[in-house]
Amino acid sequence: MSDPARSATDPPAPIVYALHDVHYVYSGGHVALDGIDLEIRQGEQVALLGANGSGKSTLLKLLDGIIGPSAGTMRALDRDVVALADGEDAFRFHREVGLVFQDPDIQLFSATVFDDVAFGPLQLGLSPDEVKRCCDEAMATMEVTHLADRAPFELSGGEKKRAAIASVLSLEPQVVLLDEPTASLDPRTKWVLVNLIRRLAAQGRTLVTATHELDIVPIIADRVVVLGENRRVLADGSPDEILADRDLLIRANLIHEHLHEHGRVRHAHFHGDDSHHDDPSAEVDHDLVDLLAKPTA
Ligand SMILES: Nc1ncnc2c1ncn2[C@@H]1O[C@H](COP(=O)(O)OP(=O)(O)OP(=O)(O)O)[C@@H](O)[C@H]1O
Ligand SMILES: [Mg+2]
Repeated sequence: MSDPARSATDPPAPIVYALHDVHYVYSGGHVALDGIDLEIRQGEQVALLGANGSGKSTLLKLLDGIIGPSAGTMRALDRDVVALADGEDAFRFHREVGLVFQDPDIQLFSATVFDDVAFGPLQLGLSPDEVKRCCDEAMATMEVTHLADRAPFELSGGEKKRAAIASVLSLEPQVVLLDEPTASLDPRTKWVLVNLIRRLAAQGRTLVTATHELDIVPIIADRVVVLGENRRVLADGSPDEILADRDLLIRANLIHEHLHEHGRVRHAHFHGDDSHHDDPSAEVDHDLVDLLAKPTA
């Protein structure tokens, strides 16, 4: 999925982000990132995995420049972002980076979808023709052109997600950050969105997607970064490597192990994060591995 125009003999793509020992402390003293070392190159598609509270959303906000590091160094898009006294000062990379929040209601606030998609370009003072071109392209990419005159609040969850991404794409950012883009979507809508995310990758953009859904990772990413519960990078590798490392996934709390007893047999199942223990069909629906199949008596 990496840039098809690049060959193995090409020099490495330029570095878009270089973070060294980056910390982020929320006002009130809560440590959300505790020494992040990370480099991301142009055109990479990175999946950001980690348990609840491991710092994924905080890291995305940092990459977007909404917040700055509390300590450590960050070079982003050819700029040095120095540690800021309280970490809260904004440093936005206006056109180059777009962050799609998990909750589309934060992103969509105008009377119509078109107004939301046009908001960014209008703020930049582009000409009416240029605004229309950027909006038409963004809405076509996310397949929301037919929703242009609709009010965002009356859209379905999947339509809102697509409109929210279009509102970010209209600024034509080279880096797109997605915070749990497929959370709370039904399976069909989820896969529609996954295909649209692939389209962004095919356009050569740099993508960083925080997700809990392991099944979409090999499709939307060529690299996986796992944040540990110590709020540091626990692993960094290809989707194949990371998703095959069951011990790592358990350690990072991305899958969990249950011991089940069926009559006299006890065995362990591994469940993805989206499994539902109360749902009797869950054992059939998930890729379960019998580890310790053995009699209990
Ligand atoms: N505004 C805030 N003020 C104080 N602490 C915060 C704030 N936002 C997040 N945190 C804390 O920072 C840590 C990292 O949170 P963050 O939202 O980045 O995690 P996450 O990996 O995105 O989690 P999730 O998977 O639940 O979305 C958590 O312990 C959280 O409680
Ligand atoms: Mg989050």
